[in-house]
Amino acid sequence: MIQSELRRFDVPFEQISKQREYVALAKTVLESRMCGKSAKAYVHTFGCQGNVSDSERLKGWLSQIGYSFTDDIESADLVLYNTCAVREHAHDRVFGNVGALKPIKEKNPDMIIVLCGCMMQQEHVWQKIRKSYPYVNLVFGTHSHHRLPELLYNVLRGGKRVFDVFETEGFIAEGMPVHRDGTFKGWLPIMYGCNNFCSYCIVPYVRGRERSRKSSDVLAEARELIAAGCKDITLLGQNVNSYNRGSDEMSFAQLLREINAIEGDFRIRFMTSHPKDCTFELLDAMAECEKVSKHLHLPCQSGNDRVLGEMNRGYTREKYLSLVSYARKVMPDISLTSDIIVGFPGETYEEFKDTVSLIEEVGFTSLFTFIYSPREGTKASRMPDPVSREEKGRWFRELTQAQEKIASKRCSNMIGRTYRVLAEEFNGGMLSGRTDGSVMIDFPGDESLVGSFCQVRVTSARNWTLSGELIG
Ligand code: SAH
Ligand code: SF4
Ligand code: F3S
Repeated sequence: MIQSELRRFDVPFEQISKQREYVALAKTVLESRMCGKSAKAYVHTFGCQGNVSDSERLKGWLSQIGYSFTDDIESADLVLYNTCAVREHAHDRVFGNVGALKPIKEKNPDMIIVLCGCMMQQEHVWQKIRKSYPYVNLVFGTHSHHRLPELLYNVLRGGKRVFDVFETEGFIAEGMPVHRDGTFKGWLPIMYGCNNFCSYCIVPYVRGRERSRKSSDVLAEARELIAAGCKDITLLGQNVNSYNRGSDEMSFAQLLREINAIEGDFRIRFMTSHPKDCTFELLDAMAECEKVSKHLHLPCQSGNDRVLGEMNRGYTREKYLSLVSYARKVMPDISLTSDIIVGFPGETYEEFKDTVSLIEEVGFTSLFTFIYSPREGTKASRMPDPVSREEKGRWFRELTQAQEKIASKRCSNMIGRTYRVLAEEFNGGMLSGRTDGSVMIDFPGDESLVGSFCQVRVTSARNWTLSGELIG
């Protein structure tokens, strides 16, 4: 019990109440700035679903302050970029986007530009913004989300630039408003931060230590989502398997069972599972809970034990394969997906081939594959990295071609079978959505079915997407 208290640093309720007072103050200043016009915000999120979920909370505050949301950046009164630092590519895109705002702001000098999220937590980044991007008004890191009303109020009333970035283990702020992007699909964060320090990864540095929300808060939010008509809830955390680790509170497997027991027609997904903490108990819970999708995203990163060791992943190829075989034993139809890094520093071609043989052995439904990207401050960024980018590019293509064959075979095997699909979009007479196993499928149907579960028989397969027809 003591341990769990040590691991959770809750923002006191009074601080959130204080932010509500800032909402009222910011609203008044904004109204006088807008002279009767309505204020519009353009919010763009880079990175993972955790960031998307954070943005829903930031939008919650913005909406209370009086902003509505627009997709037209040119006419926006406020632009907010919630940034990601995980790879160089994400980093470059943010700087490209911020650079492109300069001429827009010249035309609209009252526009407020806000940068937040993981990249802003890095000193070299916010220093560069401070020096070279004077038109950015507000910068805050990943530990300031609950203080957006206060920070924005200071910008709105004073015209001064505000920077609010600091190092901390991190806290949990309950009671923030949420402006959800969708009605029938919902993100539900269950924990924040990461303690794993995989040697290539920046996340533990920019997100602070791992901390779990109270199960009572998670369950209350799950009930709220379901009551509001949500059909697809994704539980979020960098390593959901270690939910409440080190305390005698509810484990992740128990949490799944509790959410599964809530009445209603919905499905439960979760990400990300770390193989080091994935237990047979969790796989049993997945198998037994009828509302839990039979889909496991279990990033392996590499199929070679030496590379896994250098990555500090904490499991071997054998342990990974034992999880896969147990998962398939208790859920024969389970769909497995994974993340892979190609060209980790010092990886040889033979070691890379072990990854190819692993994906062939497992037969993943789909893969997220990345070429290793050095991140300043991480252990791997200081390791010798002799293989050229071109060579890594060739390995990358070899891996994706191997996966294409696997995925297309898996999809062909689905022809003739019927799956439960949540219809998510309607376009040109066609509905599209995902199976429980997260495979995309389109089928003819009526727009009124968007947001409901449909029984769909697969009629054809193209690489890794399917086409089908409604049954019943
Ligand atoms: N917590 C999750 C992953 C979060 S980051 C987990 O451990 O599985 C999402 C993915 O980005 C990782 O799984 C990894 O494959 C990739 N990634 C992270 N850092 C990277 C880097 N420096 N270079 C390339 N890919 C990286
Ligand atoms: Fe990064 Fe590893 Fe944490 Fe995932 S578990 S966020 S890869 S350090
Ligand atoms: Fe990127 Fe931060 Fe997520 S670095 S992947 S947005 S936790």
